[in-house]
Amino acid sequence: MTHASPVLDVRHIKFKVGVRTILDDCSLTLNKGELKVLIGPSGAGKSTFLQCINFLQIPDSGEIFLEGEQITTNNVKQLCSYRSKVGMIFQDFKLFDHLTALDNVAIALRKVRKYTASAAKDRAMQELERVNLGDKTELYPAQLSGGQKQRVAFARALAMDPIVLLLDEPTSALDPELVGEVLQVIRDLAAHGMTMIMATHQMDFIRAISTEIIFMEQGRIIEQDSPANLLAPNCESRTKQFYNTLQSV
Ligand SMILES: Nc1ncnc2c1ncn2[C@@H]1O[C@H](COP(=O)(O)OP(=O)(O)O)[C@@H](O)[C@H]1O
Ligand SMILES: [Mg+2]
Repeated sequence: MTHASPVLDVRHIKFKVGVRTILDDCSLTLNKGELKVLIGPSGAGKSTFLQCINFLQIPDSGEIFLEGEQITTNNVKQLCSYRSKVGMIFQDFKLFDHLTALDNVAIALRKVRKYTASAAKDRAMQELERVNLGDKTELYPAQLSGGQKQRVAFARALAMDPIVLLLDEPTSALDPELVGEVLQVIRDLAAHGMTMIMATHQMDFIRAISTEIIFMEQGRIIEQDSPANLLAPNCESRTKQFYNTLQSV
């Protein structure tokens, strides 16, 4: 049997701050169309791991391959291209407050992809329509709800035609009634075969659509398996213990 090589292959990432080890030998592979989730207590290293995968933090050691090509930090051109193919969504949206929703999406198309102003505008419009914000294009972030801001962030990431999306707790800054609209965007992306890694504690969502749970604690990956296995009634996984503590809050 032949296996296609993974889209993303992250091997043995270590990250230290001073003498403190924040990530210790964290590895994962991501095949096309998979949605793997990172869970674990606050401070476990989930955000740092995602940032290392995108080189927003530079790992002390380890290797990262995108579609078989090793990415190194000393090749600036390759790194820029990698970052444009591996999109990132943050808990706090990270929109430009002084730009409209449309310009938040269009700016990277112009600056990175070198689109003309009018082509960038057309594409940005298309991406905003895809996340149901076709009627909000001229509004500024301060005029949008949290759920709408996060959907603008998705439109901005998707406009770059990413190969992989990294999502860092994309719903945890949202009021409960706004979580559903953002999860729906992620569900649609998964249904269309987008390859994703997502830090989240939305367990119903994890059960329903993730292909694998990666449980992290103190900078290490402790468990890595399908939700069906890790959350099975007779399974005594660390993931399940953690799940039960979430339920009882
Ligand atoms: N650049 C940094 N400088 C100092 N400490 C850091 C840095 N990056 C991460 N950390 C620490 O690493 C640990 C893991 O943090 P984080 O990745 O945010 O965890 P999680 O997302 O799982 O809550 C925390 O204790 C955090 O304070
Ligand atoms: Mg975090």
